[in-house]
Parts: sequence; structure tokens; C-alpha cells
Amino acid sequence: MPAPVTGVLADLERILLTPEQIQSRVAAMAAELNRHYAGKVVSVLALMDGALFFVADLLRHLDMPVRLYTLSASSYHGGTASSGQVRMNWPAGLDFRGQDVLLLDDILDTGLTLSVLRDKVAAQQPASLRTGVLLAKKRERVRDVVVEDIGFEIEDEFVVGYGMDYQGRFRNLPCIGILNPA
Ligand code: IMP
Ligand code: MG
Repeated sequence: MPAPVTGVLADLERILLTPEQIQSRVAAMAAELNRHYAGKVVSVLALMDGALFFVADLLRHLDMPVRLYTLSASSYHGGTASSGQVRMNWPAGLDFRGQDVLLLDDILDTGLTLSVLRDKVAAQQPASLRTGVLLAKKRERVRDVVVEDIGFEIEDEFVVGYGMDYQGRFRNLPCIGILNPA
């Protein structure tokens, strides 16, 4: 008899990606980044809190020197879907001029957050700029955004786990899943 499902897992309708699937894809993404950035120093800019687990796992596979910067950003969507604003706490003095910058986030949804951030970093004239996300939803983007590295393409459903939350919960799940409607 299977063990009863308890704790946060009990609130999931189904598991979309197991810890093993996530870990193997993250390792493959890191291998590609190791090839791409060989011989360089990479400045990683990670969006908190969602990307925390993804970044922690990915960076442990990288074999080039890495500088890690974190930023909190949240998108507030206005009355209509297209009127979004992104609020972020850009630290005073943070300047990526001449650096090889890798922007990392948990999930690409409307694209607003990453497009605003990419523009902001690009305006500082980095030597190069690349963006990676663990997940990308198959949906129309509010803003076009270039994302070079995508872990998994998923349907347009709300997901939790592995850093991603619903009202502050479920970040600590080792898998990624869909919540029970209840
Ligand atoms: P975007 O600006 O619409 O692309 O929003 C991206 C941000 O929204 C991500 O960094 C997440 O924090 C959050 N987000 C989007 N979709 C989900 C989801 O399905 N679950 C949890 N957070 C999500
Ligand atoms: Mg986020």
C-alpha cells in the first residue's frame, strides 16, 4: 500500500516535474552554460525569491568563476492585462558595464518582469547578456523578451514548488506541481 500523502504535497492535484527530472534538466542547462562561458567570469543576476532553488542548484554545476547578485522584483498588473508595472529594488551602485551577465528567473509568464530587467541591464552596456528560466509557459507574452535558456516549456497553468509560491506557500516542495482547485 502506498504511504499516505501528507504535508504540503497533500495540496497538490498532480506533480508536473519530479525532483529527478528537475535536477537532470538543471545539470544539462549548466553544461551548456559551461561551454558557452568557458574562460569567462560570469555575473549572475538572480530574481528572488522564486529563482532561489533553481539558482542554488544551477550554480553548483558551473565551473567558471561566478559573481552572484540577487534582486527582488514583483510585477503588478493593472486593470487590463497589458498595463503591467514592475517594481524592483535595484541596489545603488550595481553596475554591469563590461561584464558578462546571466539573468536568471524561475518562470517566464507574461514576460514583463524579464523584459524590464533585461532592458535595465542592457542599458548599462554589459559585455554580453543572456537570460535563463527554468520554466516557460506556452502563452502569449505581454512583452517580447529574448530568453536563451529554457528548462521546460509548460502549459499555461499555475505551478508551485521548487521556489515558486502560492500566497507565500509551497516554495519548499522539491517537485513542481499543480495545486488542488480547493
Ligand atoms: P511575468 O512578469 O508575468 O513573466 O511574471 C514572472 C513572475 O511571476 C515569475 O518570476 C513568478 O514570480 C511569477 N509567476 C508567474 N507564473 C507563476 C506560477 O505559475 N506560479 C508561481 N509564480 C508565478
Ligand atoms: Mg519571480
